[in-house]
Formats: sequence, structure tokens, C-alpha cells
Amino acid sequence: MRLVLLGPPGVGKGTQAVRLSQRLGVPHISTGDMFREAISQKTPLGISAKEYLDSGKLVPNEITIGLVKDRLSNADCEAGFILDGFPRDVAQAEALDEILKGLGVPLDAVIYIDAGEDVVEKRIAGRRICAKCGALYHMTNNPPPEDGKCTRCEGHIYQRIDDKAETVRERLKVYKAQTEPVVDYYRGRGILKTVDGEEDADKVLETIISMVQGRK
Ligand code: AP5
Ligand code: MG
Repeated sequence: MRLVLLGPPGVGKGTQAVRLSQRLGVPHISTGDMFREAISQKTPLGISAKEYLDSGKLVPNEITIGLVKDRLSNADCEAGFILDGFPRDVAQAEALDEILKGLGVPLDAVIYIDAGEDVVEKRIAGRRICAKCGALYHMTNNPPPEDGKCTRCEGHIYQRIDDKAETVRERLKVYKAQTEPVVDYYRGRGILKTVDGEEDADKVLETIISMVQGRK
């Protein structure tokens, strides 16, 4: 199963990608997570990407496309993958077509998780993350323990630097200008499936599973 998850910042792409990866037995590939990992390790990739993530702008395509091409060529992607946060502009969508053509495999579906701006802003404002295992928490929906240690791995729970209100506004602007056209790109190709991301996370997951299994 080869899937792309599309949608605005904070809509729940990462939340659903983790669950879908477990259910479908294919890797979750998040370009945002790859950049954050590189930044925390201070690798050359991380050093180049940091200013873009911190300001809410897209990392240049010369960096991002090669990174995804390498990742999709790994043996663990042979049975499929769930792409979260890529493609994020039309040039990336075209590059993905080329990469998949080169690998001789099709994209099965693009799941567009949609929600209003007020909902995603609240989700981002409350989001907390484990620095060690990436587990997601939310101050109201799924609060982290009071000692600030992850319930799964005891890692340190933190707030993403790009989750401050000013950077969120920039990310939403970038999403509208650069990523929304990707929704139309796939709609035109007839492989776009839209799910209501304002529902609770379990409902969203079951809807996506039904969609990819051809029941919706
Ligand atoms: P990235 O990490 O991809 O961030 P994003 O797209 O802005 O999306 P988020 O991770 O903020 O949200 P999400 O949809 O995953 O929501 P989540 O599941 O966490 O990208 C970050 C940056 O990296 C970019 O700004 C850019 O600089 C760079 N970048 C990445 N990819 C790139 C690319 N392809 N090209 C160029 N640059 C790139 O959920 C949010 C919160 O809501 C959580 O607390 C969660 O618990 C809660 N929640 C989730 N679902 C529900 C629900 N149904 N009900 C209630 N609460 C929910
Ligand atoms: Mg995410």
C-alpha cells in the first residue's frame, strides 16, 4: 500500500500515519521528522534545514526531493509506505511521480485530511512530543504526565519550536500558497480521498482504512 497523507499543519497527519503504519505494516516516512532528527543530531542536513523549520518555510526542493528519493529506494519500502508531509508543493508531487515511475510502482491513494483553521490552531497549540520516541500528546485531549516524562519510553516531552503562534501563522500561509495546489493536482488525477479530520482520531483512522480498502 503506497499512500500520501495531505492536509494542513496540525490536522493529524502524523497521528494517523503512525497508526496506519502499524495497521498496514508499511513504514511511516515523515519529512518533518527526518529534518527534526537531523537538526537534533546537528548533521549537515540538519544545519541546512534548521532555519526553514524554525521560520515555518519549506526546505528547498534541492534538499528535500533527494532525501525522499533515497528513502523510498530503501528495501523496507518495497511493500509500500505512508508519506507524511511530502509532497508539499506541485514540483514535489511531480518529482514523486518520477521517483515512483523509476521504481516501477504506482501510488494507491492520496488521503486529504481536512479541518478548519480554528481546529488546527488549537491542536498545534496543545501539542507536546516525546524527544526520544516521537509519541504525541495534547494538553487537553491526551495530556502528558506531570513529571514531563513520556509514558512509553520516559523520554523528555517538549513543545516544537515551530509551534509558537507566530510561526504557525506562517506555516498556514505557506500551506495555502504552496500545498493546497497539491490537493487539486491529485484531485485531477482521480486518486484523492477526503476525510473529515475534525472527527476524533479513532474515527478518522477507521474512515481512512475503509477508504484504502475500497469500502468508501
Ligand atoms: P511537518 O513536521 O510535516 O509539520 P506540518 O505539516 O506542519 O504538520 P504537523 O506535524 O504540525 O501536524 P500533523 O498534521 O502531523 O498533526 P499531528 O498528528 O502532530 O513539517 C515541519 C516543517 O518541516 C515544515 O514547516 C517545513 O519547514 C519542513 N518540511 C517538512 N516536509 C517538507 C517538505 N516536503 N518540503 C519542504 N519542507 C518540509 O497532530 C497535532 C496535534 O493534534 C497533536 O497533539 C495530536 O495529538 C492532536 N490530534 C491529532 N488528531 C486529532 C484528532 N482527530 N482529534 C483531536 N486531536 C488530534
Ligand atoms: Mg506531523
